[in-house]
Amino acid sequence: MSIKKNKKIVKIKATILQKFISQIFQKCNLSKAHADIVSNGLVNADLRGVWSHGVVRTSVYCNRILNKAAKPKPNIKFKTIQKNIFHVNGDNGIGFITSNLAMQKCIQAAKKFGVGIAGVYNSNHFGMAANYLEQATKNNCLAWVFTNASKALPPHGAMAAHFGTSPFAFGCPTNNKDNPFILDMASSSVARGKLKFAAQRGDKIPFGLALDKFGKPTDDGAKAFEGIMLPFGGMKGAGISWMMDIVAGIFTGANHSGEVKNAINDFSGPANVGHFMICLKADLFQNKNNFLKKMKYGINKVKKLKRAKGFDEILHPGEPEYRKMLKNKKEGISLTPDIVKDLNKLSDQFKIKSPFSA
Ligand SMILES: NC(=O)c1ccc[n+]([C@@H]2O[C@H](COP(=O)([O-])OP(=O)(O)OC[C@H]3O[C@@H](n4cnc5c(N)ncnc54)[C@H](O)[C@@H]3O)[C@@H](O)[C@H]2O)c1
Repeated sequence: MSIKKNKKIVKIKATILQKFISQIFQKCNLSKAHADIVSNGLVNADLRGVWSHGVVRTSVYCNRILNKAAKPKPNIKFKTIQKNIFHVNGDNGIGFITSNLAMQKCIQAAKKFGVGIAGVYNSNHFGMAANYLEQATKNNCLAWVFTNASKALPPHGAMAAHFGTSPFAFGCPTNNKDNPFILDMASSSVARGKLKFAAQRGDKIPFGLALDKFGKPTDDGAKAFEGIMLPFGGMKGAGISWMMDIVAGIFTGANHSGEVKNAINDFSGPANVGHFMICLKADLFQNKNNFLKKMKYGINKVKKLKRAKGFDEILHPGEPEYRKMLKNKKEGISLTPDIVKDLNKLSDQFKIKSPFSA
């Protein structure tokens, strides 16, 4: 059986979910190739356990297209600045597509010239940054991926949301090609998507993640979502989210300085999100096998260190998600009833058979 129901959680095979989500985006007028890129990106987030950037966001991107705030068939243009440097106009398409294609260009350039760089403007929310890092690591490349995002975080010392929760993301291959080093972290204490869905579900959140709109610490998901998110590490996270706005926003020519439109509820025009990516081939300075051997040596050395209290083992960034991926591929992706309800609404709206009604 591909779909298992227990009391509340529904389990579904990734391949079935991917096909269903792709059909939804095709009904929103995306080409099959583009619908597959978005669907693969969303399902990959769920497979990796990053549920806040998984299929729970399907209706968010559909709504943007149906409200004409994003284009289903963008004419994405690559301007070659240097043979390995591209300036990409996303033509207000879904950010997953623009970023996937931009990373493909960076990888091709890195393989040929050692380094590939892309600056993307006129894009939309690109979801989980690890999707693009994995493209690079599968091709034996190291990569950094930056994006800016709609205002959610205060600069250090301010009491107003201004910069995005923009993730800092770096990936490189290891000697296990399915388990790359992936550091993909929001500049907020917690990804904003987690607050949004805590708000919808009426869940409590730990104190210290956000303030309510009056600036008081809160553990109420809804009040936090309406209020101000807090950066991780005080001025350090705040500084990183500002840096993202400079690199992915000001530098690329995208919106910046608190002017990126919110993907979820602002349909007043293009969001004009910016992204920036750098891709380097792993054997730029030394033979690829040397790099992988040293990565293995480095990871093994860390894993043998004396463990802190409460830790059974030491994992590298990306490893917890790799383990969830193995489990979810085997047992199916777990979806909560509110996500299933939301996806069923879309299947009714577009007259597509829902895999959850089987
Ligand atoms: N597109 C956007 O605008 C946007 C904005 C914010 C966040 N996001 C996405 O939200 C997602 C979630 O972000 P987050 O900050 O909540 O992630 P997180 O806090 O769950 O993980 C952050 C990093 O810590 C690593 N990690 C976790 N546990 C570990 C352990 N035990 N040992 C070693 N490393 C460990 C993870 O591998 C990951 O690289 C990311 O994929 C990010 O790209 C996207």
